[in-house]
Amino acid sequence: MTGAAGFIGSTTAELLLSEGHEVLALDSLVSGRRENLPIGADFVEGDCGDVDLVRSLGVFDACVHFAARIEPAESMKFPEVFFANNVASTLRLINTLIDTGLERFVFSSSCAVYGDQEEMPIDENRATGPQSPYGQSKLMVEDALRWMAALGRLSCASLRYFNAAGGTLAHPERHDPEIHLIPIALDVALGRRSHIEIYGGDYPTPDGTCVRDYIHVSDLAKAHSLAIAGLGDVRELTLNIGTGVGSSNREVIETVREVTGRELELRVVGRRPGDPAMAVASNVRARELLGWVPERSDLKTIVADAWAAHQSLTL
Ligand SMILES: NC(=O)c1ccc[n+]([C@@H]2O[C@H](COP(=O)([O-])OP(=O)(O)OC[C@H]3O[C@@H](n4cnc5c(N)ncnc54)[C@H](O)[C@@H]3O)[C@@H](O)[C@H]2O)c1
Repeated sequence: MTGAAGFIGSTTAELLLSEGHEVLALDSLVSGRRENLPIGADFVEGDCGDVDLVRSLGVFDACVHFAARIEPAESMKFPEVFFANNVASTLRLINTLIDTGLERFVFSSSCAVYGDQEEMPIDENRATGPQSPYGQSKLMVEDALRWMAALGRLSCASLRYFNAAGGTLAHPERHDPEIHLIPIALDVALGRRSHIEIYGGDYPTPDGTCVRDYIHVSDLAKAHSLAIAGLGDVRELTLNIGTGVGSSNREVIETVREVTGRELELRVVGRRPGDPAMAVASNVRARELLGWVPERSDLKTIVADAWAAHQSLTL
């Protein structure tokens, strides 16, 4: 597992270990945290694009690849960094693993591959149209993987996550810099920040703020375990992982107010380049092909779990 010291990787590693898998965690710690590393997993510090290092790690049944730079707004400033890390390093990783005989590859893709879509929910047949180098980097890897699967080189699942959220006590959501609304709002609730900035209040959405589909990280983790198993039967899977329910920024903040019982100062500022107005998934295909069912992804449970986890964070 690459990126296992990150938010989603660490939660997924813990689930896989609890299911009896053995996990080797590879992470450069460029943005992950050592304390996040799953107990029970072997850890190697290094870059997933380091061919000699990856070759030295041994032979695996499956690779779950989370490692990436993840901030769309940063990718609008430094596209070269995102293509180098998210595409070039990933292709070196895949190449090396194919040489060692790897058969199953599960890739962290993103709803960012869809860009700005008008009709919701978005299903996997929708034409893609990334609006940022970040989204483009995910689509480039997906395309390469589909070719490799079609040509019999390996089996692959590209999981297009919508907005990962929630958290567990062992692995609270924390990114550096933090760009996600719920942890930022929880920081404000704890007095660690003064206010929340909302990027744009004039979108064509019911309350003018962006609408997103929040998916609990525990449900996201389960999709990976099911995808690894599912690749025993099919060569290629491209699946949305979301709930089908959209929540606006204002609704999220209202839920954070309710759950924490704290007042939160909100400031609406200008739009961010690359942000679509709405992103809500159709998850019919993941339900049908994987038997995946989100269990903790209603907004209130997501925020309550995130709040419980967030309070344990020391800064
Ligand atoms: N968080 C979300 O809402 C979301 C949504 C869609 C897709 N994704 C994707 O899910 C994956 C995990 O996201 P996250 O939220 O856990 O992010 P994260 O930043 O917490 O985790 C990413 C991890 O990858 C590591 N890493 C980065 N580049 C590396 C490299 N070249 N070699 C080895 N390790 C490297 C970092 O140190 C970090 O531990 C990413 O691929 C991201 O694009 C996340």
